[in-house]
Amino acid sequence: MRVLGIESSCDETAAAIVEDGRRIRSSAVASQVSVHRSYGGVVPELASREHIDNICVVVDQALEDAEMSWKDIDAVAVTRGPGLVGALLVGLAYAKAAACARGIPFLGVNHLEGHIYSVFLDYPKAELPALSLVVSGGHTNLYLLQEIGRYELIAKSRDDAAGEALDKLAKYLGLGYPGGPVIEQLAREGDASRFTFTLPKITDGALDFSFSGLKTAALREVRLHKIPRCEPENPLAEASLPKSVLDLAAGFQAAIIDQLLDRVDKAREDREVGSVHLSGGVSCNRALRSAFTEFFRARNLPVYYPHPSLTTDNAAMIAAAGYLRLCRGDSDPWDLAPDPNLALA
Ligand code: KG4
Ligand code: ZN
Repeated sequence: MRVLGIESSCDETAAAIVEDGRRIRSSAVASQVSVHRSYGGVVPELASREHIDNICVVVDQALEDAEMSWKDIDAVAVTRGPGLVGALLVGLAYAKAAACARGIPFLGVNHLEGHIYSVFLDYPKAELPALSLVVSGGHTNLYLLQEIGRYELIAKSRDDAAGEALDKLAKYLGLGYPGGPVIEQLAREGDASRFTFTLPKITDGALDFSFSGLKTAALREVRLHKIPRCEPENPLAEASLPKSVLDLAAGFQAAIIDQLLDRVDKAREDREVGSVHLSGGVSCNRALRSAFTEFFRARNLPVYYPHPSLTTDNAAMIAAAGYLRLCRGDSDPWDLAPDPNLALA
């Protein structure tokens, strides 16, 4: 069974063809980063317009790369939410029109479910139950994944998502958008012990995350130590940046990793789990991956994360999640609406 996946929830227009929920036959992504960079974040109206311009091109590319035509496609799965409503509408309208014209089923998929399943594309036999941390620009959600399709939300961010905090610090320092990859690169050359940040305490006993206090504390350090706004031509050429920027990047990244580890470890203490999963754009971060792998190796728990190309938004994960619903006999009606706040039940 071949599913065409479509993703347009934020600033990537993506299409992919996945066979039997596992085999990625093609995965095309048109990134809008260059359109939004000068604004320091995603501008929703520009994102919708870019999706309109790109969607046909990206789907054609996915079909061409897979050496397939529409008659080879058995179903269309598309991100229904959460995300930017105008951006979601583009993918949804395209998916409905294409599936209706071909007379094949159409499924609206939860973007977060897509991130969770991105791990299974590479590790179909990952041990369950699992603690699955989706850590991206929009979410920092920790789920207990009892079995495929059964989730319990254990913790979420009460304010900024981890990726959002990285993006905001980078914007403040004039390092452009998205912030995560730049901060990761600069952090490699920095001294994480120069700027240290305390773990936020959630007093009601919940395991929730919080990153806005960290952001405020970092901005205080910027002012206190007169760390300059950089706006370098190439933010990745770290040699051109002051040492204080590299040190702050290192301390900030370390604080985010510490908090993620702390909460996931606390969640593990009270539950029987077979593995820990990381997904979403921030899970691309090598320091995060190795910190988790090392920490949980000492506790006899394997850590799984997807290939870097499947961590940031892509359509292969949407096709894989759609396939699982298809196997359960699900499909969606033609009047399915986008849901910018769609929760994962
Ligand atoms: O999953 P994603 O593409 O979109 C959302 O669903 O939000 O995640 C984008 C986020 C951005 O905040 C970006 O800064 C962050 O992922 N990111 C990273 C890295 N690459 C992307 N954060 C840390 N290290 C990276 N290497
Ligand atoms: Zn995402």
